[in-house]
Amino acid sequence: MADTPTLDLRNGVALRDLPDGAIVRGSVDAEEAILLRRGDAFFAVGAHCTHYQGPLAEGLIVDDTVRCPWHHACFSLRSGDALRAPALDPIACWRVERVGDHVHVREKIAGPGPRTAPTAAGSPGTPASVVIVGGGAAGLSAADMLRREGYEGAITMFSADDSPPCDRPNLSKDFLAGTAPDDWIPLRAPEYYAERQIGLELNARVASIDVQRNRVQLDNGDQREFEALLLATGADPVRLAIPGAADAQIHYLRTFADSRAIVAKAVSAKRVVVVGASFIGLEVAASLRARGIDVHVVGPESVPLERVLGPEVGRFVRELHELHGVAFHLGRTVSRIDGNRITLTDATTVDADFVVIGVGVRPAIALAEQAGLTIDRGIAVDQYLETSARGVFAAGDAARWPDPHSGDRIRIEHWVVAERQGQVAALNILGRRRPFDAVPFFWSQHYDVTINYVGHAENWDAIAIDGTLAAHDCAVTYKRAGRTLAVATIARDLESLRAERALESADR
Ligand SMILES: Cc1cc2nc3c(=O)[nH]c(=O)nc-3n(C[C@H](O)[C@H](O)[C@H](O)COP(=O)(O)OP(=O)(O)OC[C@H]3O[C@@H](n4cnc5c(N)ncnc54)[C@H](O)[C@@H]3O)c2cc1C
Ligand code: FES
Repeated sequence: MADTPTLDLRNGVALRDLPDGAIVRGSVDAEEAILLRRGDAFFAVGAHCTHYQGPLAEGLIVDDTVRCPWHHACFSLRSGDALRAPALDPIACWRVERVGDHVHVREKIAGPGPRTAPTAAGSPGTPASVVIVGGGAAGLSAADMLRREGYEGAITMFSADDSPPCDRPNLSKDFLAGTAPDDWIPLRAPEYYAERQIGLELNARVASIDVQRNRVQLDNGDQREFEALLLATGADPVRLAIPGAADAQIHYLRTFADSRAIVAKAVSAKRVVVVGASFIGLEVAASLRARGIDVHVVGPESVPLERVLGPEVGRFVRELHELHGVAFHLGRTVSRIDGNRITLTDATTVDADFVVIGVGVRPAIALAEQAGLTIDRGIAVDQYLETSARGVFAAGDAARWPDPHSGDRIRIEHWVVAERQGQVAALNILGRRRPFDAVPFFWSQHYDVTINYVGHAENWDAIAIDGTLAAHDCAVTYKRAGRTLAVATIARDLESLRAERALESADR
């Protein structure tokens, strides 16, 4: 069957085919594009999100922006600018002209340059230099935003990792399953750092911070001065001391190197035990099943993910994994390991070639503690993500912030939150006084099922399910005292975007 020819948007679209609110798909000079109408305003932008190529025609238009249906990135319809992570790069944007009763897509609008005039280092309110501790989601997005905002001072990013900032969520998903190649994993091409003059130092662990002298010291003794500092140290996997376990048998998953080490084992392994029925543990289970490996999941809970998603979704996720051949040993943990034999606390045994432990993470706060910053089960920050020391900011998994939506001080471990906090911290380093008020969002992928979650519900008194979990089509609303705290969806991306919007507006 011949492909349906795409509509050439340069040729013009009749107004009658473009009612208010409509989105028309087509192409402009062989690039896929969408044409939108909002009242008397017309916009033409690239059809795909720059994060994972999500289809923007299926997204949500909010004022003069479009939000991506997959992981809620947001783009300006006027400039194509990537306004909110997880997309960091703009989409194409064209000028649109109305001629009589037709609208025509004209020339491409130059991509967004720095949003403000160059900000010379040391000019009033602008630090002469910025040091970022952490080469992850928050660290990279902060550095990126500083340059997008025209900051011209020195940026140094220290990372204890041995590889440049990477797409961490992919490490338990497609990369581990063998469906994403190595070159998908770095967040930025190698030349990006030199081009933007971001001094990325790998294998560089900061050992201490002197907030009085504005100085960091690395574990090799080198010292660097800063005028503003961002702590984006993330979180470390909780380690288990299992009697009899040899280091080579046990794997944790946080870094690209960790994921590569598991892939290397998976090549010849027949069976794995995953300790932890959490998001990471279960994503690892799904990815290793995709490689044809026998997977046994061990965890102390009786229903996986119940604490975060409730019993109904937890049972559904368990059944989904069982359908794909995963064996669960719940209500138990590992008591010892002898060679390939893993003994559980109820004395049952499972033989496995290796073990992956995913039992949660702890925020990496040692540096902040040593520096004397206020700690509150994470690095305590204010609404501007500033710590108790002036000019020292924190973002991402390590930071606990006052969430305006729940009214609680929260710390969460979501990729999009970390990136957005990095961006807001960067703006505040430049003196913009921008409160962090994004509604939290995360996604998790299990085989062909993706769960999207907006909001934050640590506890709830009611769960309402619209649709059917078994049909992989539903929205699950978590409420307390009649108020919606969070919504989880499966295959209802637009509903997830609308829920995000409703949560944003509910608190205004
Ligand atoms: C395998 C995996 C899958 C995930 N999947 C999802 C998902 O599907 N959806 C989702 O929302 N979230 C997911 N997450 C969570 C998400 O990746 C984190 O929330 C996010 O990476 C946090 O960003 P961060 O910048 O705070 O920390 P990180 O990205 O962990 O970066 C921390 C950085 O700090 C560095 N560092 C720490 N201490 C020091 C020091 N003393 N000196 C120098 N550098 C230091 C580390 O080396 C690292 O570079 C996943 C996490 C993992 C590990
Ligand atoms: S594909 Fe658009 S946000 Fe991920």
